Amino acid sequence: MIEKIKQIADELVGLAPKSAAEVEDLRIKYLSKKGLIASLFNDFRSVPSDIKKEIGVKLNDLKNQATNRINELAESFKGQTVVENDLDLTRPGTDIPLGSRHPLSLVKNEIISIFTRLGFTISDGPEVEDDWHVFSALNFPPEHPARDMQDTFFIEKDPDIILRTHTSSVQVRVMEHAKPPIRTISPGRVFRNEAISARAHCIFHQIEGLYIDKNVSFADLRQTLLYFAREFFGQETQIRLRPSFFPFTEPSAEMDVSCSLCKGKGCNVCKYTGWLEVLGCGMVDPNVLDNCGIDSKTYTGFAFGMGIERITMLKYGIKDLRLYFENDYRFLKQFQGAV
Ligand code: PHE
Repeated sequence: MIEKIKQIADELVGLAPKSAAEVEDLRIKYLSKKGLIASLFNDFRSVPSDIKKEIGVKLNDLKNQATNRINELAESFKGQTVVENDLDLTRPGTDIPLGSRHPLSLVKNEIISIFTRLGFTISDGPEVEDDWHVFSALNFPPEHPARDMQDTFFIEKDPDIILRTHTSSVQVRVMEHAKPPIRTISPGRVFRNEAISARAHCIFHQIEGLYIDKNVSFADLRQTLLYFAREFFGQETQIRLRPSFFPFTEPSAEMDVSCSLCKGKGCNVCKYTGWLEVLGCGMVDPNVLDNCGIDSKTYTGFAFGMGIERITMLKYGIKDLRLYFENDYRFLKQFQGAV
């Protein structure tokens, strides 16, 4: 033991590091928790008690000598960085830029939050569907043009397996399984065989809503949609319902909202009409209720459906629908920070 102490003491005197990093290595070698001196302190436990005092003093002296020597060496390299390469694990990290939500997700989430506040639930369903859920249950006659090859993507023929052309198919599935009262919205991706342009795409997104209970009236439909329009486009928004046609609703209507850009005065977005068309709606046709196992003599309901791309275009003044699908960073980063 005494030998070892002496040997280390001599070594310390002769140390000649060339850089601050080498000093640091020496500090680790001699003074760290697993260093040479610490290991001598470990051995010290087994020293016979009659020489413990003598060795203890020597060991403490050695420790002090080493500490002073290393500090003295470190002092001589002051100003030189300890770490020679660039890796300094104590430095704060570089900022990672914040991502942004896609505008379609922003609008979808906002619409969902408005309807969930009214007590609507969210339903989901498959994108690959059968003819029954997309068309037949919804009262489409066999020769209806929407079934035509031009509109629908077919995966298999006879029996037909198709990509859903609207999320009304989800509502059919809900009606088949749930008992009224039903209040649900179904957001999702839909597919139509259309040429891609600034105003149309073969893939787009919808949110459709369904409300079924006893005594549901057209007034309930109107009031629900007015609430939605004012929450989404602003409290001063007006709505108007124009007669329309869908196979699965009777009566059917198209809803317009007053143009939020020109406040109804007329501008190029509303094509100088003061109104913007936003969704289709109507009272669920009794045939549809019966097809789905709901007694149309007891229950009535309303349904509505809107395209998320279109609503997003109106909200953010986006002129070309293809921008949604190109993932151009210059487009997406404009939505940074929006939640
Ligand atoms: N499903 C219709 C469409 O895709 C929208 C709609 C839903 C219309 C519900 C009326 C009622 O165009």
